[in-house]
Amino acid sequence: MIRKILIVFLILFLALQFIRPARNTGVASSGSDITHYVHVPDTVMHILITSCYDCHSNHTEYPWYTNISPIGLWMRQHINHGKKAINFSDLSSFTKKKLDHRFGDIAEQVEKDEMPLPSYTFIHTYAKLDSGQVKLIKSWTDSARRELAFPKEIPGREAQKGASVPLGG
Ligand code: HEC
Repeated sequence: MIRKILIVFLILFLALQFIRPARNTGVASSGSDITHYVHVPDTVMHILITSCYDCHSNHTEYPWYTNISPIGLWMRQHINHGKKAINFSDLSSFTKKKLDHRFGDIAEQVEKDEMPLPSYTFIHTYAKLDSGQVKLIKSWTDSARRELAFPKEIPGREAQKGASVPLGG
């Protein structure tokens, strides 16, 4: 009996390997990526790329094991949902209000240790944020929200009328 069940599972597993989910391998930076709306220091950009971009950008780095189903399908699912929540590569569909709101969500998610997803950092251990990185993200979101509200107040930046790419609403 057990043998039969194992054989059925093996056949299902092999059949699953024929499913090849579409890959998210576009270019992460664009004319409407995050850097065009608010200042992103290199240290913060590094964290975003290392810990968030796999699910929240147009470019995912795929380790070899994502070639195995159902891991690849599961990853695809995260990418679809993650990009729907926020796609750092393209914020052109966001209003200023929505972007401001999302900065609040980002701080909340990293402070609660909900992002990056624990199921992801379990394998991608390097993506886990330490407390210093969480603080850095939090203070970046604070200054990014100020920058959105009062574009001229950011010291060291040219006085500007707003984001370099117009936001809707
Ligand atoms: C393994 C994929 C993955 C990684 C890596 C990841 N996220 Fe997410 N993220 C998701 C998914 C999936 C959702 C949608 C969750 C949902 O719909 O409930 C999401 C949702 C969010 C949201 C919206 C939450 C809300 O309140 O609606 C924010 C903000 C966010 N992620 C920020 C981040 C940040 C910042 C990082 C990096 C530090 C990150 N995520 C890393 C998959 C990921």
